Amino acid sequence: MAEFDTLRIRAGYNSEEHNYAVNVPIYQTAAFDLGSIDRARALWTMEEAAGLYTRVGNPTVTVLEDRLTALDGGYAALALSSGMAAISYVILALTEGGGNIIATHSMYGGSEDSFSHFFPRFGAHIKFVENRFDVSSFEAEIDENTRGIYIETISNPNAELYDIEALAKLAHRHNIPLIVDNTVATPYLFRPFKHGADIIIYSATKALGGHGNTIAGVILESGKFRYGKEKFPQFYEKSYKIKDRSGNRRSPIEIDSKSPLIIHLRAFYLEFIGAALGPFDAFLILQGLDTISERVEKQVRNAERIVKYLESRKEVEWVKHPSAAESPFKDLAAKYFPKGAGALLSFGFSGNEEQLDKFIKHLKYFSYHVNIGDVRSLIVNSPKTTHAELDAEHLKNAGIEANTVRISAGLESADDLIADLEEAFNYVFK
Ligand SMILES: Cc1ncc(COP(=O)(O)O)c(C=O)c1O
Repeated sequence: MAEFDTLRIRAGYNSEEHNYAVNVPIYQTAAFDLGSIDRARALWTMEEAAGLYTRVGNPTVTVLEDRLTALDGGYAALALSSGMAAISYVILALTEGGGNIIATHSMYGGSEDSFSHFFPRFGAHIKFVENRFDVSSFEAEIDENTRGIYIETISNPNAELYDIEALAKLAHRHNIPLIVDNTVATPYLFRPFKHGADIIIYSATKALGGHGNTIAGVILESGKFRYGKEKFPQFYEKSYKIKDRSGNRRSPIEIDSKSPLIIHLRAFYLEFIGAALGPFDAFLILQGLDTISERVEKQVRNAERIVKYLESRKEVEWVKHPSAAESPFKDLAAKYFPKGAGALLSFGFSGNEEQLDKFIKHLKYFSYHVNIGDVRSLIVNSPKTTHAELDAEHLKNAGIEANTVRISAGLESADDLIADLEEAFNYVFK
């Protein structure tokens, strides 16, 4: 298998299969000619995975899925129209018929909010652990209805880390999968399947695409987790939707025992809910992947320099990033993130809201908005924006203090970024 830097440019694409086009073509079509009745049958029985109708598959999207499968060393992938669609598909599919997922409070606000208030409406209950840094706290929540453990490998916004291998072992002891949102880390910094995770979720909107121009999500399956019939009967149910050529009903497990989740999601969720990724958006994410290594490498170095600078300012109460002097995550960072633990950091601004408003407005090289992983550096007051839907108790549980300011480091010159922050601090606290 080639190395990461080769795969991010080459994996999943053979120009001979696409009229020798060097760049991945955008198959901007809703449907595909079926060719012959025999071929139509092959498509309907999933013998052939080629284009049929873009809601359930498209060749540009397939290249993206195959490329990410290679980058993460996984087995199968499903690209979707947003990271939230990816999260919803996984949570709902694993808990079909009722069940619970064990999760932490420290997550992207939309995840935390949907876990607390939205998924329970569908019988998908989320049990939040009391102490997210203690594996036994996760174990304490597991019961006979638990269908998975869910964490972010680097959490948003405070860049917290977990002992992934210990959590994977725990999950497997209870015959449930470990699901990780690897959005902030990206496969460049961290490959969760190598450490025992079973399902990876990405908001490709962030550093995979990297240019802040596309909303997209991806689900990856490792191919190693064996879903038991008792906990996951949905993968054993024979369905009219996935018949073989003779018309016999089959189950996702029968079609491919290594990726029943992705088969199930394609056959039912994509078909009926249809959060399909468009081919042009898949193309934009592929363009982003071409340069992921260089981008993420520099963004991490920029983040580390910003962390050091912020630590030197008296107007900064605290800085949260695994490279920060006081970080409790140094050992985990050394073990799991030798290339650096991401370009996302947060700090405690010591002024009042009016001063923070002045500070943010004065910055020239940090855009004030809610995205992360962009080539542009971004700044946001998380408790009032990205995590605004959380009540005071949730914010406290998630470790998000009222004065939290989040930075996603971009690709500008680190010297310019630091000079910009310096100028804004001096302006507000003169
Ligand atoms: C860690 C993480 N996961 C998932 C999402 C949701 O992704 P999307 O905005 O693509 O739906 C976000 C969005 O900010 C995120 O930060």
